[in-house]
Amino acid sequence: MVVQLENPFIFGKAVTGENFIDREKEIKELKSSLLSGQNILLFSPRKMGKTSLIKETFRRTKDAVCIYIDLWQTASIYSLSQEIINRVIEKTYTSVEKLALDMKHLLKNLRPKISLDTNGNINIEFGREEIKETLNEAIDFPEQVAKRKGKKIIIAFDEFQEIENLDGLQIEKTFRSTIQHHQMVSYIFAGSRQSLIRAIFEKKERPFYRFAKQIRLQPLNVETLERFIISKFKNTNKEIDKDAAKWIAEFSRGIPYNVQHICHETWYATDSKANLSLVKKTLYEKILPSLNDGFQIIWEDISSYEQRKLLIGLANESKPRIYSQYFIKKYDLKTPSHVRKALKSLEEAGIVDENKIQDPFFEEWVRKKFTL
Ligand SMILES: Nc1ncnc2c1ncn2[C@@H]1O[C@H](COP(=O)(O)OP(=O)(O)O)[C@@H](O)[C@H]1O
Ligand SMILES: [Mg+2]
Repeated sequence: MVVQLENPFIFGKAVTGENFIDREKEIKELKSSLLSGQNILLFSPRKMGKTSLIKETFRRTKDAVCIYIDLWQTASIYSLSQEIINRVIEKTYTSVEKLALDMKHLLKNLRPKISLDTNGNINIEFGREEIKETLNEAIDFPEQVAKRKGKKIIIAFDEFQEIENLDGLQIEKTFRSTIQHHQMVSYIFAGSRQSLIRAIFEKKERPFYRFAKQIRLQPLNVETLERFIISKFKNTNKEIDKDAAKWIAEFSRGIPYNVQHICHETWYATDSKANLSLVKKTLYEKILPSLNDGFQIIWEDISSYEQRKLLIGLANESKPRIYSQYFIKKYDLKTPSHVRKALKSLEEAGIVDENKIQDPFFEEWVRKKFTL
């Protein structure tokens, strides 16, 4: 009988446990900082592994109640408040009666409806108007529970830059003024839009100015990725050449999502042993075409020609000196200050990071699409 093995390469959702590699130092730092009450700002370009790191750190943290909240999924202040309170209760209370008794100590003005759903989970609901006025009570709720239960709580707010879309500065102020008094709860704020998230924490006039210790998540080490790729192929009775694994790790720039994506498709493309030419064939004939429509949309959204030309230049030069006469002339750009402006917009859009197109797939697409 042939055992059908599953593809061991996973991308598009956070990974933990046996699918999670490396990051031991980061996990240690996060754990000890958070347990000592230090708040953390975790940032990096997308797909670097922030969400996975948070979830894996939580999986390995037994000395605190860990709660994960994704701001992409909370479209209003109402749902954010609901989410905070419900997630805290879910992890700290099992008895409705006990919760009902405690409620008057935990909240001053809010009077939520407490019920049990069909799965036996406790569910809490507020009136929509009520919550808006007492947002700070909802935000204070974790601290009240932590004190009452004598248990530390860690809360992660992922995609925290989205807070701006909820209620602008006001909610930032409420958040900051409430949680700065928290003794038993620490927070991780994570986000991808670097310039946005840095604006929240680095501008003097913003409530979150210097509120958290910053950790920038770095790419994974190429050798670590190489070993990961080779061993996952082996574990599923396939093989990959060492030079092919190395090429994938390098092309991916150490960004784990890219590695998993290329490996996922390459794994399907072979029954026995993958070599470098199969990897490249998979990339150019399978992966890039599947990304074409999305990239086309990104390209069309870039309405400035200066920005488009700069991208073409970045895609075609390995060490571009973007303000040099040579570069400006070759790529038909205007002046150094135009280049600076274009670069800033591309950075704000999350497309360019440190003078490089952030996504190597997109870079390859740009390079192939536009001949000079
Ligand atoms: N430590 C890791 N080990 C293996 N794969 C990882 C790791 N971190 C991230 N990945 C891969 O990268 C993808 C994106 O990770 P994610 O945590 O969602 O990144 P981010 O939150 O920074 O956008 C995951 O789906 C997974 O394929
Ligand atoms: Mg994420």
